Amino acid sequence: MSALFEARGLSKSFPGVRALSRVDFELRPGEVHALMGQNGAGKSTLVRIITGAERADGGEMLLAGAGYSPGSVHEAQLAGVAAVHQEVGLIPRLSVAENLLLGRLPRKWHGIDWRAARARAREMLAPFGLDIDVARPLAEFPVAVRQLATIARAIARDCRVLVLDEPTSSLHGRGVATLFGVVRGLRARGVAIVFITHFLDQVHVISDRITILRNGERVGTWEAGSLSRVELVSQMLGRTLVAAPMADRAAAEGGQRCDSVLRIRGLARAGVLAPLDLEVGRGEVVGFAGLLGSGRTEAAELIIGVRNRGAGTVEVHGRPVPAGSPRAAIDAGLGLCPEDRQADGIIPGLSVADNITLVARRGLARWGFVSRRAERALARRLAGELGVKAANLDVPMRTLSGGNQQKALLARWLANAPEVLILDEPMRGVDVGGKAEIERQIAGLARAGMGVVLISGEIDEIARRSDRAVVFRDRRAVGVIARDGLTEDALVRAMAGGEGGRE
Ligand SMILES: Nc1ncnc2c1ncn2[C@@H]1O[C@H](COP(=O)(O)OP(=O)(O)OP(=O)(O)O)[C@@H](O)[C@H]1O
Ligand SMILES: [Mg+2]
Repeated sequence: MSALFEARGLSKSFPGVRALSRVDFELRPGEVHALMGQNGAGKSTLVRIITGAERADGGEMLLAGAGYSPGSVHEAQLAGVAAVHQEVGLIPRLSVAENLLLGRLPRKWHGIDWRAARARAREMLAPFGLDIDVARPLAEFPVAVRQLATIARAIARDCRVLVLDEPTSSLHGRGVATLFGVVRGLRARGVAIVFITHFLDQVHVISDRITILRNGERVGTWEAGSLSRVELVSQMLGRTLVAAPMADRAAAEGGQRCDSVLRIRGLARAGVLAPLDLEVGRGEVVGFAGLLGSGRTEAAELIIGVRNRGAGTVEVHGRPVPAGSPRAAIDAGLGLCPEDRQADGIIPGLSVADNITLVARRGLARWGFVSRRAERALARRLAGELGVKAANLDVPMRTLSGGNQQKALLARWLANAPEVLILDEPMRGVDVGGKAEIERQIAGLARAGMGVVLISGEIDEIARRSDRAVVFRDRRAVGVIARDGLTEDALVRAMAGGEGGRE
């Protein structure tokens, strides 16, 4: 079969980093081509070059046999190459409809035709099964909805090549199935799709071929059916796989569990969360499970005070945490690693080291001044342990690959060593090795007495990592599953509304 797109010998360097070296990459019409590799392997760089967001230093590209070297994203779009990038490029303050139709809002003889715009936006979302009020600001919707909206916007244009850079990082279950349905439809129309993900389960489900990058080099390209999962991971890591160093369930061995670090009574807010009672013990990992919009993230936001609570109390070690002030909550010993790292987490222009020590600085300064040396040593240690890949720790955070930003963000909270750490989707965009290391770190901190709340849409992650799980449904905690009964099956049943949880 002849290639629709071809890249030959693409190279790209950034100060101190060779992001791509002489990479060949080919796309056939009507194929889903998975692009795999560890954090920092060069995946996003490659697709940014293909979509005109970045220029290669060397090499050439062909689209349908003709020379292709887009000078901008717009130029690439005109040639039929569209992309959904890892870091969603939407404007939260604007309505869903405006975001979907940005630059293409339908006009009437004077001004914008809002009725037509809303109708068009609803049409665009229909294939994704999203029936939402498109006149509302995008910011009001969960990350997963925002992610689907970006994809809807990208495929609304006629495209021959569609790049999806981690489109499923915030999607679970039904969202993924819906997306895959849409992708298969495009494939049937002859569109070539590049699909980047860190969810190994998804690769074989959706892709026809797989290309693996390692340290900026192409390792190879395989028919998906001919590459087993173990081989895939081995090729990504560049070594044969030994049993993954998965830490055991946090399991601070019995005994210490009795005194609670976090005590929540009647925490609620109308329309956001029904009254929640919860205690988290020293060294305990409590999972928050539930479908999208079930209230798990909202509960975290009320605990830390990102959202103002309507009622209830939160105590850390018996000390009350004031409402509505994340600063005060952090001082009281709480930490929240948020779901949306771009909006609430990283500071893109600040160095990696500063991003890591941002919160801990207050702790380090306890004796009147911040020792720059202590700060750097801390940043260096955590970056090393979590495997943050960066040219050095002085480069701006925005130059790190997505997964490495996530690791650095997590390092920030680990640096602060809070009494209770709430992690909302901490593995988002993190590669296999990174996941194992993060799990190890969390288990270590729990052993040292920290209480952990782990929010995740990955049921297996909750089942494997937590000592106890609270199941949320329709914005209320509908049940608690104790460790003995904590299986994926029990979680699914409780989330869906069957038995398996105590009402
Ligand atoms: N604008 C930039 N300035 C400096 N370095 C950069 C820039 N963009 C990327 N890099 C570096 O290039 C390398 C490849 O990054 P890239 O984003 O392509 O990785 P990735 O494979 O997409 O990883 P992830 O799975 O974490 O998203 C990384 O070392 C990254 O730090
Ligand atoms: Mg990337």
